Amino acid sequence: MSKILEFIDVNAGYGRIQILNDLSFSVEKGQVFGVIGPNGSGKTTMFNALLGQMRIFSGKIIFDGVDITRMPPNVRCKIGLGRTFQVPMPFENMSLYENVLVAAVHGGSNRERFAHDEALRCLKLTGLYDKREIKSGELTLLDRKRLEIARALGTSPKLLLLDEVAAGLTDAEVKEIMKLVAELKAAGYSIVWIEHIIETMVGSTDRLMCMAEGRRVTEGEPREVIESDEVQRLYLGVDENE
Ligand SMILES: Nc1ncnc2c1ncn2[C@@H]1O[C@H](COP(=O)(O)OP(=O)(O)O)[C@@H](O)[C@H]1O
Ligand SMILES: [Mg+2]
Repeated sequence: MSKILEFIDVNAGYGRIQILNDLSFSVEKGQVFGVIGPNGSGKTTMFNALLGQMRIFSGKIIFDGVDITRMPPNVRCKIGLGRTFQVPMPFENMSLYENVLVAAVHGGSNRERFAHDEALRCLKLTGLYDKREIKSGELTLLDRKRLEIARALGTSPKLLLLDEVAAGLTDAEVKEIMKLVAELKAAGYSIVWIEHIIETMVGSTDRLMCMAEGRRVTEGEPREVIESDEVQRLYLGVDENE
């Protein structure tokens, strides 16, 4: 297997405030790589560093064999990084189709015909095809999460970055998201999935990393990571559903 993503000793922060500390990890092609860690441990910041939305003080980020450490954000999107945001912000007055089309036009190809086909493909993949003419403001939370994923897929990513897409959902709805992620993996996407709810990650990821204070605490086979002393200590007494 070859690597789709590699962080090598990345130190990064907002302004002069350092958040990521010597962060190193790598993701294999075709994997679902999970990231857990307490609130404020730097998970979203890791995505911001990957997307070029903050300063990298030192270290390297290699994406699909290319050093992207100093690459501008729009170029990173074009070469195959697509993300969801923790708080979904669709264009409320636009239909689902239009929402995904915007992503396809801006992120992926600027050929109109291709963007149209790609938008429909992403709506089918996420189970939203039959609702494509509905305005996004009318969606349930679960469908808003699906739309957030569809918009990320619209940019034709090689690596899909999911930031707490299961947060706020009922157990049954979380299962729907887990099913969708499995389908996306089967469709050939490599995925990095951040989630605060650790139980969700055991059934859904190939590898799991736990972060704290901007560092990698541990990484490995998901069940082993969750049962490790380091992770038990970090989450002890913390009810992640609160
Ligand atoms: N835009 C920002 N400017 C300054 N500090 C920030 C900013 N965003 C997040 N932080 C800080 O970075 C740390 C990590 O936050 P974040 O990456 O959002 O954590 P997580 O996603 O793991 O909950 C926190 O201490 C947070 O307060
Ligand atoms: Mg976060």
